[in-house]
Amino acid sequence: MRRTLKAAILGATGLVGIEYARMLSQHPYIKPAYLAGKGSVGKPYEEVVRWQTAGQVPKEVASMEVKPTDPKLMDDVDLIFSPLPQGAAGPVEEEFAKLGFPVISNSPDHRFDPDVPLLVPEINPHTVKLIDEQKKRRDWKGFIVTTPLCTAQGAAIPLAPIYMNFKMNGAFITTIQSLSGAGYPGIPSLDVVDNILPLGDAYDAKTIKEITRILSEARRAVNDPPMQEVSLAATTHRIATIHGHYEVTYVTFKEDTDAGKVREVLENFRGEPQELKLPTAPEKPIIVVDQDNRPQVYFDRWSGNPPGMSVVVGRVKQVNARTIRMVSLIHNTVRGAAGGGILAAELLVEKGYIE
Ligand SMILES: NC(=O)c1ccc[n+]([C@@H]2O[C@H](COP(=O)([O-])OP(=O)(O)OC[C@H]3O[C@@H](n4cnc5c(N)ncnc54)[C@H](OP(=O)(O)O)[C@@H]3O)[C@@H](O)[C@H]2O)c1
Repeated sequence: MRRTLKAAILGATGLVGIEYARMLSQHPYIKPAYLAGKGSVGKPYEEVVRWQTAGQVPKEVASMEVKPTDPKLMDDVDLIFSPLPQGAAGPVEEEFAKLGFPVISNSPDHRFDPDVPLLVPEINPHTVKLIDEQKKRRDWKGFIVTTPLCTAQGAAIPLAPIYMNFKMNGAFITTIQSLSGAGYPGIPSLDVVDNILPLGDAYDAKTIKEITRILSEARRAVNDPPMQEVSLAATTHRIATIHGHYEVTYVTFKEDTDAGKVREVLENFRGEPQELKLPTAPEKPIIVVDQDNRPQVYFDRWSGNPPGMSVVVGRVKQVNARTIRMVSLIHNTVRGAAGGGILAAELLVEKGYIE
């Protein structure tokens, strides 16, 4: 039996914060013990939160008061989940790490620090070793681990096993992303209702940058050398769905590659979280569907167990001898943020980085 760990959720009223509150309220050994905010400080959680997710505000957190984002008030907290907005997150996370807290961040601010893991637990679990270097170099008692952009994860989770098992040449990705990806209140309705909103070159570029780092760290075994360079491009869009990023990817190969074999590799993909049977690890990180008209955002975004933790891949088709097409769907605030953060914490507990 594990010791119960007390977690603080920063940005607890935000769209990622509410998924942390929902998932941790049911967690076997990580409990939501401190809900932090900014504008909503001093009020009961259920009074201020916009519960834009499944179910009701859990009774475990409903009457908790939202408190300031202040490490001095968190003496009895064991770890920090930080879905804070870009810009606000960076210095706050550093302050917590300096004081000895393990910080799991969903924000972009530290994703490209060379000593900070950009962790997808099934793909690059060996990168947690960067924590040792980070603590030493910065003279910190705690540390920061980040999780990638939800959009990058939606493509990278299925691309990683393909990259690890075939001679991949490149991938061309088109995304159709939900509104919750932009936080609350997010995009003005007049920009997105009856519309498809291009997210622009900067968003395309950051998606590619993150997928490149994740793939370059993907290994079949811990000591495998880095694999071949690939050429990636993305075109990103937002539409008026609430949750779920839908991504169409054309993958090209350096040699003839059979779509059936690619489908098999995706279907059989498992990682360390599955071997370790971590509580938030879905049995299948990737669920492959064969119906021609699936995945669909409305029906498939909560796939897996825990719900929303599996990426659904469908429409795996041979385009020509060296090209396949596939579609993937990720629940952006669950697997792409809070669920991914909780799975990262479980891996860190298992590896002794969180005690
Ligand atoms: N949404 C997604 O699908 C997704 C996926 C992956 C990663 N992320 C990343 O996760 C982070 C949060 O996203 P979100 O969608 O949850 O945003 P959000 O809905 O806008 O929520 C932001 C939260 O942060 C709090 N906050 C704002 N400024 C603060 C400050 N200066 N100090 C302390 N707390 C502050 C707010 O608290 P009050 O309400 O109390 O003011 C609110 O709870 C972002 O960095 C985003 O890039 C989001």
